[in-house]
Amino acid sequence: MSFPEGFLWGGATAANQFEGGWKEGGKGWSVADVAPYRPNVDVKDYKATTGVSLERIREAQSTEDTTYYPKRRGIDFYHRYKEDLALFAEMGFKVFRLSVAWSRIFPTGEEEQPNEEGLAFYEDVFKEMKRLNIEPLVTLSHYEMPLSLALKYNGWTDRRVIGLFVKFCRVCFERFGKYVKYWLNFNEVDSIIRHSFITAGIIPELCGERGELACCYQAAHHQFVAGAMATRLLRELVPGAQMGLMLTKLTTYPRTCAPEDVAATQKKNLENYFYADVQVFGEYPRLMFRDLEKRGLTPVMETGDLELIRENTVDFVSFSYYMTMTESVDPNAERTPGNTVLGVKNPYLPTSDWGWQIDPVGFRISLIELYDRYRKPLFVVENGLGMKDTVEKDGSVHDSYRVDYFRAHFKEMKRAVEDGVELMGYTSWAPIDLISAGTNQMSKRYGFIYVDQDDLGGGTLNRTRKDSFYWYQKVIATNGEDLD
Ligand code: BG6
Repeated sequence: MSFPEGFLWGGATAANQFEGGWKEGGKGWSVADVAPYRPNVDVKDYKATTGVSLERIREAQSTEDTTYYPKRRGIDFYHRYKEDLALFAEMGFKVFRLSVAWSRIFPTGEEEQPNEEGLAFYEDVFKEMKRLNIEPLVTLSHYEMPLSLALKYNGWTDRRVIGLFVKFCRVCFERFGKYVKYWLNFNEVDSIIRHSFITAGIIPELCGERGELACCYQAAHHQFVAGAMATRLLRELVPGAQMGLMLTKLTTYPRTCAPEDVAATQKKNLENYFYADVQVFGEYPRLMFRDLEKRGLTPVMETGDLELIRENTVDFVSFSYYMTMTESVDPNAERTPGNTVLGVKNPYLPTSDWGWQIDPVGFRISLIELYDRYRKPLFVVENGLGMKDTVEKDGSVHDSYRVDYFRAHFKEMKRAVEDGVELMGYTSWAPIDLISAGTNQMSKRYGFIYVDQDDLGGGTLNRTRKDSFYWYQKVIATNGEDLD
């Protein structure tokens, strides 16, 4: 037996990277709307685009420009969702992951009543998916909180944001609960310490003496509490629905078998697991908590927080997997970037043009580690290869490198399932080209579907099928049996 019957094959996206329509339908500003595209920066230096300051936000707010603020335009799913969903259905998708932009429903995050136009948009999308027999997988928070909450409260640092988020969740569950069974709370919840503004609306200048890192762990605690409240509410309002956590699985190997390297690696991996441990086990892991205490980073908690977290753990564990990292205590070890991380280079692995190390076996290792640790069903909700594509004269895109990447990863995923890992589904990142989260580029393409748009927003936005489109279609049709 390999992939189980009913295995959910599909693709994953995020509102801020593909919807566009940033000022339409009553949508408010989100943190993504101030993310700049910088043509001449080193694409391997993600801090160049993910860093933030009050001045940079003000500068962004003073213009309606969509050329250098690409997430404002996305790829226009807002107007083309029927065409895009039809292409996904043609590939045979069983599931499609998307997020609900909080600022479309509550433009500043604090309105009394939700924005009906925003709700109607998503309802139309879900109805269309139902018609096409595609199951939605919905992320409640994917790098797109209302900008107003970042400026007023320093984002998730402030406890008041919990209530505002839970109110948004209530509206989503009440309105979309009849269409959506699978929910994710916070995309890559661990990413808060890598890009605190995008993930949690934290503006370092507003952290004061406390410092940015302490704000991050405070915000993470608030997200754990909010996540637990959202899970409790979901169970109350939508019986049978399921809530998952979402982790960036940053599997780290020791560079050598020197015990110092192994110990440093163990620390890295425990730090990564921390965010999932809390949400699966319902408690702060003792080692991590002690570490936070030692560093003076312990979050402020209120009575009842820990009980709430304990009583409302998640139903399943979802994660993104792109690459593995390596760790070494040698300060001179060669480094390479990954998904918004910088690690030591692994001499056994090839890298993409953005420096990310390609490691299919690491995918299997990650699946096994996660399943063995949590004993919860897993869902792979992001995996893919960002590359520059070449369009031939006849419009075709021969992306054999992408097929090779997926084939190798699917073989390993299959082995993990055969070994006993319980896997609900797999959604590639991203089935259609969209704006990169880390670099705000369009030319870093992940899709099976090519979108005619360049980094500066030029192009027709026409959609065309790449070679990988037909390959993935066959994979789904054979439930992962035919990977040739
Ligand atoms: C994940 C994010 O970290 O990686 C996505 O959840 C993101 O939003 C994806 O797009 C790929 O990263 P990037 O920077 O290549 O877009």
